Amino acid sequence: MSEPQVYPVPEAWKRRARVDAKGYETLHGRSIADPGSFWLEQARRLDWIKRPELAGDWSFDENDFHINWFADGKLNVAANCIDRHLKDRAAATAIIWEPDDPEEPARRYTYLELHREVCRFANVLKAQGVRKGDRVTIYMPMIPEAAFAVLACARLGAIHSVVFAGFSPEALAGRITDCDSAVLITADEGRRGGKRVPLKANADAAAKHAPALEKMIVVKATGADIAMQDGRDIWYHEASAEVSEDCPAEAMDAEDPLFILYTSGSTGKPKGVLHTSGGYLLWASYTHELAFDYREGEVFWCAADIGWVTGHSYILYGPLANGATTLMYEGVPNWPDSSRMWQVVDKHQVTSLYTAPTALRALMAEGDEPVKATSRASLRVLGSVGEPINPEAWRWYYEVVGDSRCPIIDTWWQTETGGHMIAPLPGATALKPGSATLPMPGVDPQIVDAEGQILHGATEGNLVIAKSWPGQMRTVWGDHDRFFQTYFSTYPGKYFTGDGCRRDADGYYWITGRVDDVINVSGHRMGTAEVESALVAHPHVAEAAVVGRPHDVKGQGIYAYVTLNANDEPTEELRRELRQWVRSEIGPIATPDAIQFAPGLPKTRSGKIMRRILRKIAEGDTSSLGDTSTLADPAVVDDLIANRVA
Ligand code: PRX
Repeated sequence: MSEPQVYPVPEAWKRRARVDAKGYETLHGRSIADPGSFWLEQARRLDWIKRPELAGDWSFDENDFHINWFADGKLNVAANCIDRHLKDRAAATAIIWEPDDPEEPARRYTYLELHREVCRFANVLKAQGVRKGDRVTIYMPMIPEAAFAVLACARLGAIHSVVFAGFSPEALAGRITDCDSAVLITADEGRRGGKRVPLKANADAAAKHAPALEKMIVVKATGADIAMQDGRDIWYHEASAEVSEDCPAEAMDAEDPLFILYTSGSTGKPKGVLHTSGGYLLWASYTHELAFDYREGEVFWCAADIGWVTGHSYILYGPLANGATTLMYEGVPNWPDSSRMWQVVDKHQVTSLYTAPTALRALMAEGDEPVKATSRASLRVLGSVGEPINPEAWRWYYEVVGDSRCPIIDTWWQTETGGHMIAPLPGATALKPGSATLPMPGVDPQIVDAEGQILHGATEGNLVIAKSWPGQMRTVWGDHDRFFQTYFSTYPGKYFTGDGCRRDADGYYWITGRVDDVINVSGHRMGTAEVESALVAHPHVAEAAVVGRPHDVKGQGIYAYVTLNANDEPTEELRRELRQWVRSEIGPIATPDAIQFAPGLPKTRSGKIMRRILRKIAEGDTSSLGDTSTLADPAVVDDLIANRVA
């Protein structure tokens, strides 16, 4: 492999940044050598009702498994994101909302206005009986009320579970039921790229399969004609007109739950990742400030959706805890045209932009003109998240979008980690395109082999984290044993990330992708098992096996092998129907890119599907299938190769 190009830290950045290279080494060194005093000091960045005297108290050991941070501290997360800024920046803009349609006016909320809106929302929830510890599901478009709803839950100490508005009624119902949520917050419709999304109709369909659900609070977003069910459904604009603008913030223990966010794993149904209050907020706030070198008055745009962890930590909690102006965008990157993102940057004078490689690759395919037509002079930092960024997209982001002025902050992390784990700091870290570079303070990554032996120096293997950090998830909702089994049993005593990773001679980390049965489609995590179980739920399907294969824009695409029931014919029509079926079972992001009808799947004699072989065939790499002699029926492979979908 040729040596990657290195982009040293520019002189101007060395001078202005909070942390330079030496500073980073000191910070990281201290955080690992003396985490207790390091994190108690960092905890001062939050506003505590009772300041903690304890930092991390944890063990990844099976016999004494526990994770606590700042356990004796008390705080309210929403008060940290709003109330404490009222003294100095009540009139500063907290949220800029850019609508889907560029012809419509943007909306702005100062911290004072945000306070009022969140208190109102909290009082509406309270009036419906929502109390500390209750679960509230939020199925919302990217409108300001989604942010108010999330923060209102945090204010009351209710646990929010945001479900991405692209998920199907079935997926929504499963998530409502799993966390036993009595209240759902939704909107009449969502809008994305000029299209409407029937959220209320989806919510109605979900409610039929979610017996726990008692109340639906509906925000009027588009004014569409929708059905309201008496006794269950409440218009938000009506309910909020009747409540007070003030709502006290509940005092929460640092380890009280803040939210649940469902994410895909390699087995079974999605798991409810649980984050708690103090450690999570500290991590979101600290990493937001450090990785983007955030400065007062800057406009921060994380172009994710609040349905994903990136939206939780870097649209809402991190920036608001830091008193920043955060931009919330309702639409998609390429509508009405592929210049839109850069127009939004100019319109709102965005200083930091944080987006995903898949969006960059799609925009890059449209050429440089749509970018060059805009100024982008306000930009200082460009962030990347969600999947490995290929060096070509990295360079385009750096040279074309950032005019070779802005460092590319490639942040590796996961729903489970709460915030950035491996990422460069703009004033400290020389960049290499495609590498997430070095660990954040507090993060102790190791690379291990299949047996768990620690590999040193330049090497490649599986990525584990040896020590707890404040932003770590605390459990899988309702299944603590699954939490332990999923993350701590593969390599005893360590957190297993599920990612493969290479470390180069400079100690830089290069994430190589998932090593489990999770695929990453457009920066979204999909469990192959989830797509398989949707497929086999179809009356004509006997068996299904799903693998990822490289896709130019999406990073990975979904390739499904389907065995039909004995008397069913493989037709084009059925292929279309199956794609549509998965779409409606899970959501559009799970739609298979290719479906291959397979009379049989390659299995070992004990009946285990050999996914390695299926992956290679899907990729078209049929010359190196390895040993197929152990298969129960080696002949199936020839049929699979012959009928591969290009
Ligand atoms: O495989 C890694 C990939 O996304 C996974 C986490 O997905 P999710 O929980 O949905 O969170 C996405 C947003 C944080 C990881 O296990 N991943 C995320 N960021 C990167 C990445 N892979 C390489 N480079 C990244 N910067």
